[in-house]
Amino acid sequence: MSEYKDTVLVSGGAGYIGTHTAVALIEAGYDVVIIDNFSNSEPTAIEGVEKIVGRKVTFEKVDTCDINALRGVFERHEFSTVIHFAAYKAVGESMHEPLKYYMNNLVSYMNILELMKEFRRPNVLFSSSATVYGDAETLPVTEQTPRQPATSPYGNTKQIAEDILRDCCRAYEGFHGIALRYFNPIGAHPSALIGELPRGVPNNLIPFITQTAAGIRECLSVFGNDYDTPDGTCLRDYIDVLDLAKAHVAAVNRMVDGKMKEKYEIFNVGTGTPVSVLELLNRFIKANGVDVPYKIVARREGDVPAVWADTTLANKELGWKAERDLDDTLRASWNWEKHVRGIK
Ligand code: WQD
Repeated sequence: MSEYKDTVLVSGGAGYIGTHTAVALIEAGYDVVIIDNFSNSEPTAIEGVEKIVGRKVTFEKVDTCDINALRGVFERHEFSTVIHFAAYKAVGESMHEPLKYYMNNLVSYMNILELMKEFRRPNVLFSSSATVYGDAETLPVTEQTPRQPATSPYGNTKQIAEDILRDCCRAYEGFHGIALRYFNPIGAHPSALIGELPRGVPNNLIPFITQTAAGIRECLSVFGNDYDTPDGTCLRDYIDVLDLAKAHVAAVNRMVDGKMKEKYEIFNVGTGTPVSVLELLNRFIKANGVDVPYKIVARREGDVPAVWADTTLANKELGWKAERDLDDTLRASWNWEKHVRGIK
């Protein structure tokens, strides 16, 4: 009998959420096979995972869009479950290069599903996003809150991928899927051995804040303070990546242990607490004792005023809830940036 509970194929496992999830899976007794093409990640991420767990992990450099290369992975490794992280994620870029997003995000995904069907691998966990809710009519959003038409090709790939998974689970016997709708993942492993590594100018708030604190960016632009929110800046649900990683373990357990109530299930993965841009910025400054110059600028096109999660379903069905303290999360974000930049 294997010493492991099961094996999980992690596509995009060198990325931000993939690395933290691989660590959490290993710590929970799973073995992992990680694949990544390093299109938006570095080999050092795999080394970081190995240092944290204290052993080598199985890694193959594979492009999930290449079905023949991917077939080799299915031939060489036994696993019951695939977590599919591999995707492009820059909302703005997707507006200018829609085909790049549809090709990469959907072809890779359909290759995975096709091979799962062919090799009779039963479980798939898909990285969806709160972006599917768009500008929701009621807050917080539950899994039943209607999705709004996607406002970017990136967001559309998430909606289409959810629907593809639903249809596959409906049609193919022995096929099970869970879509986790992530809110805004932030933070890093406390060891500072893995974290988010954005290339170029960051689009997301926390990497922009940490790079400004590190002196790489001159000033943070806060996009709009005239929203209908308590301090006028947007409200989001910032979820620590360690908590997010644990939600994946809970979802994998649910599939592997045969506990799913439907063949296709969706869960919100957030904290349930809305935090404004200025609140997050001020908490970051206070928790880390650093200066972050900022200015208020115009709203960013496409931003919704507010979105946060109702996490009741994940709490109940996955037995999971976000636990990390926001200040600890913000300290971990800064420690990671310092580690990357060699700041003492
Ligand atoms: C958060 C808040 C900005 C940068 C996006 C995707 C989503 C998901 C996560 C990823 C907003 C404000 C930001 C800055 C700012 N996908 N902001 N100055 O837009 O909620 O979600 O990332 O893979 O699908 O849409 O996250 O971090 O970009 O912004 O004021 O320099 O911070 O306006 O209110 P968002 P974000």
